[in-house]
Amino acid sequence: MLFSPIKFRNVELPNRIVMSPMCMYSAEDGLANDFHFVHYVSRAQGGTGLIIFEATAVSPEGRISPYDLGIWDDSQIISLKKINDFIHQNTSSKTGIQLAYAGRKASTINGKQIVKQQGGWQTVAPSPMSYQPGEAVPHELNTEEISNIVSHFALATKRAVAAGFDVVEIHAAHGYLLHQFLSPLTNLRTDQYGGSFENRSRLLLEVVAAVQQELTDNQALFVRISADEYAEGGWDLLQSTELSNMLKSKGLDLVDVSSGGNIHGVKIPVFDGYQVPFSEHIRKSANIPTGAVGLITTATQAEEILKNHQADLIFLGRELLRNPYFAVQSAFALGEDCAFPIQYSRAKKLKSI
Ligand SMILES: Cc1cc2nc3c(=O)[nH]c(=O)nc-3n(C[C@H](O)[C@H](O)[C@H](O)COP(=O)(O)O)c2cc1C
Repeated sequence: MLFSPIKFRNVELPNRIVMSPMCMYSAEDGLANDFHFVHYVSRAQGGTGLIIFEATAVSPEGRISPYDLGIWDDSQIISLKKINDFIHQNTSSKTGIQLAYAGRKASTINGKQIVKQQGGWQTVAPSPMSYQPGEAVPHELNTEEISNIVSHFALATKRAVAAGFDVVEIHAAHGYLLHQFLSPLTNLRTDQYGGSFENRSRLLLEVVAAVQQELTDNQALFVRISADEYAEGGWDLLQSTELSNMLKSKGLDLVDVSSGGNIHGVKIPVFDGYQVPFSEHIRKSANIPTGAVGLITTATQAEEILKNHQADLIFLGRELLRNPYFAVQSAFALGEDCAFPIQYSRAKKLKSI
């Protein structure tokens, strides 16, 4: 199944292997450069079905660090488009972009908050609570500021479409702004954006609706969530399933199921494929396609997840950093077909000259 195609709207992925979004912290002023070109194109040459570009900020304040990719200005389209055009013209891979807003986890370098003199900025959040002890208290967003953030996501999507992406993924996981709104532990608001499950989900649903407005059938929409935040009274699998149900009714194509990141210092039980059961539960209970991610490192493991109906796509993070050729190498080992650059075709048969 790993090498079977799958279609979301008009977007057909040649196989089920996805490069999970991974921040490279290598941009200046949010602009993609030669590093990003080589980094993403090499995974496409390696046969990866879908390559999701790293968390890309929809506004400068939404960056995790000063070195994040950005898509808050039209000038940022051209270098992203160059990568997409090359991939589309020379490989079978599809591309996606993860749109992100860091919230209270913004203004950092190597995970440490930086102040103005170091190039940092005022962070924002649903409620004035910092992520880690010692960090500055974030500014509590008012409703006008929240509505501006929704517009930033919409404008970013318009640019993502212009840059040629096939998939837009909204980052609502790992304790960034949209996740902060979802969780009763980080959202203590008493207005329409806080309190009940419906109110805490409101911002994400508004973002999804605004993003959908900018998409055609030629782009698919994914949302990444943290299915559980491993903290009592926090965001959990039950709420994630309910949310996935709501997102499905809004036309979402896939839930990318990760976990954690919102509450500092919690214990996460980590083992091979540790987040796969979350994906399986959401896929079965909300009846929506899912992506599984987290410590998936072999084709056999990936195939088993697909065969057991635990996910529709396999997201690989660090394994694809170690091995850009994971897809083609796995295909050759399993006797399956996988797109490989025509220039390399003499290497397709393992034992011939
Ligand atoms: C260097 C690095 C950067 C990451 N940046 C992002 C990111 O931008 N957005 C995101 O949702 N997850 C990010 N992650 C998490 C990965 O997408 C993935 O979920 C995680 O690494 C688990 O998968 P793995 O075990 O295959 O690496 C990052 C992980 C790594 C290692």
